[in-house]
Amino acid sequence: MKNLILAIESSCDDSSIAIINKDNLECVFYKKISQELEHSVYGGVVPELAARLHSAALPNILAQCKDYFSKLCAIAVTNEPGLSVSLLGGITMAKTLAVGLKLPLIAINHLKGHIYSLFLEEEVNLDIGILLVSGGHTMALYIDDKREIQILVSTNDDSFGESFDKVAKMMGLGYPGGVIIENLAKKAKDKNIKFSIPLKHSKELAYSFSGLKNAVRLEILKYENLDENIKAEIAYGFEEAACEHILDKLEKIFKQYSFKQFGIVGGASANLTLRSRLQNLCEKYHTKLKLAPLKYCSDNALMIARAAVDAYKRSEFVNIDEEILSPKNKNFLRI
Ligand code: KG4
Ligand code: ZN
Repeated sequence: MKNLILAIESSCDDSSIAIINKDNLECVFYKKISQELEHSVYGGVVPELAARLHSAALPNILAQCKDYFSKLCAIAVTNEPGLSVSLLGGITMAKTLAVGLKLPLIAINHLKGHIYSLFLEEEVNLDIGILLVSGGHTMALYIDDKREIQILVSTNDDSFGESFDKVAKMMGLGYPGGVIIENLAKKAKDKNIKFSIPLKHSKELAYSFSGLKNAVRLEILKYENLDENIKAEIAYGFEEAACEHILDKLEKIFKQYSFKQFGIVGGASANLTLRSRLQNLCEKYHTKLKLAPLKYCSDNALMIARAAVDAYKRSEFVNIDEEILSPKNKNFLRI
């Protein structure tokens, strides 16, 4: 029986392929090759390098799942948003497979994929609030039971995850900065370096991380010798302010919407300080908290495969000769 869907994710710096059984949502194959080490020396993702690494990693992973080809019923791929040179690697491979194996092609929006990381092994349960925090996006959403997405708040400038990356870069700590800063913050002892919470006294319902990043930059400049202790104190002060900012605006939203359930997704949703504060907020407002498994918070093809199962059931296929590459977040209206 042909009931497997193969999905490819290559929107940024992770090359990943997953194969899912559309009938019981079982993941039969999953692999991800991350490029973090290669980009680490540059303190961020270098697009040309990312493209080159995808073109080596994707065929390598694909070679490992050839045995499943005869049971495939569709090919899915992330087509937006992301780095165009990275997206293109996945799209080219997906189209080649779809033509070669005579299978329908499904295009999946990366942010929808992240939302599906909450429902990897279960049916989608909507009427849900969501916080999406990644390297490229920071937004709170409401998705009604008709699958329509409403963006409740988004960022005016940088994203939550990217600000961790930049703070790590400023202190010469490597990339990606999220885990590095989170681990370093745990080593802070005095906890007396404090940064202002962005937009704390503003009624504006928006996120902003550029001012906080600049405040960290100015703090770093104060020290002639930035030793490990000071780095830990700065990391702690920064993480506190960044998480507090997220929670401050979220609480305003919780007061307006009485969410039955609220989920947190995206690479930066792995941050345990953020998770535990959100847990407290949900308890205060009697809202059920939904978390994605830590392994599937960051970019991965399984979330794309899971989203593709629902797209397959709705026959949402794209033409093979259609230009589906879209670096911008164009089709983020329904999940
Ligand atoms: O979703 P993702 O894997 O890629 C994008 O779609 O952007 O998210 C990656 C981002 C990076 O900026 C990374 O530093 C951040 O998520 N991140 C974290 C943590 N783990 C990953 N940020 C804060 N705390 C973490 N523990
Ligand atoms: Zn992502």
